[in-house]
Amino acid sequence: MSVPPESDERPLASTTAEGPAHPEDVPSEERRKFLKVGVGVLGAGCACAVAVPAVGYLAFPLGHDVTSKLDAYLPAGEAEAFGDTPTKVDLYADRVDAWNRVRQVKVGSAWVAKRDGKWLALSTVCPHLGCAIDWDGEAKLYTCPCHTSAFEPSGAHQQGPAPRGMDELEVKEAEGLVQIRYQRFRQGLSGKETV
Ligand code: FES
Repeated sequence: MSVPPESDERPLASTTAEGPAHPEDVPSEERRKFLKVGVGVLGAGCACAVAVPAVGYLAFPLGHDVTSKLDAYLPAGEAEAFGDTPTKVDLYADRVDAWNRVRQVKVGSAWVAKRDGKWLALSTVCPHLGCAIDWDGEAKLYTCPCHTSAFEPSGAHQQGPAPRGMDELEVKEAEGLVQIRYQRFRQGLSGKETV
């Protein structure tokens, strides 16, 4: 009688009433599913670990206040260079944003004069529609070339469609220099409102 050759293959699975007797006895289909889920969870975790910092980097500077504010006093020139007659000055400041620092960018202009011993600085921006206001030395008036508004040497409105007087800027003398805090104001309003 011939004896069948002994096989070293094990049965695919042996189960008891409680389940597989050994982990390696879990049917291969279930094991594949388990591995798929595990790999998926691991992949999602890795993707989040990379994506969250990347999104934060790309979104910068949203939500961060990194733009320089023009609220500092800017040098306008030597104090002794100014007198009763208005002198136009250009004001410069460094501009800083999230990526760049640009040195000495012109931020605006002002008319500067010393009246009754006090410094007066007036924005050159017309409060009507924003044209540049000139000084008329003969008429002793500030005038706007666009719609013929005119202003007193104090900056008070004299004539024309401008809804208010010229915008006065904060000014001081320090270390021999006239220094001006430059600001912009909304046009077309009867009152000053900073932009
Ligand atoms: S912009 Fe100056 S009067 Fe119109």
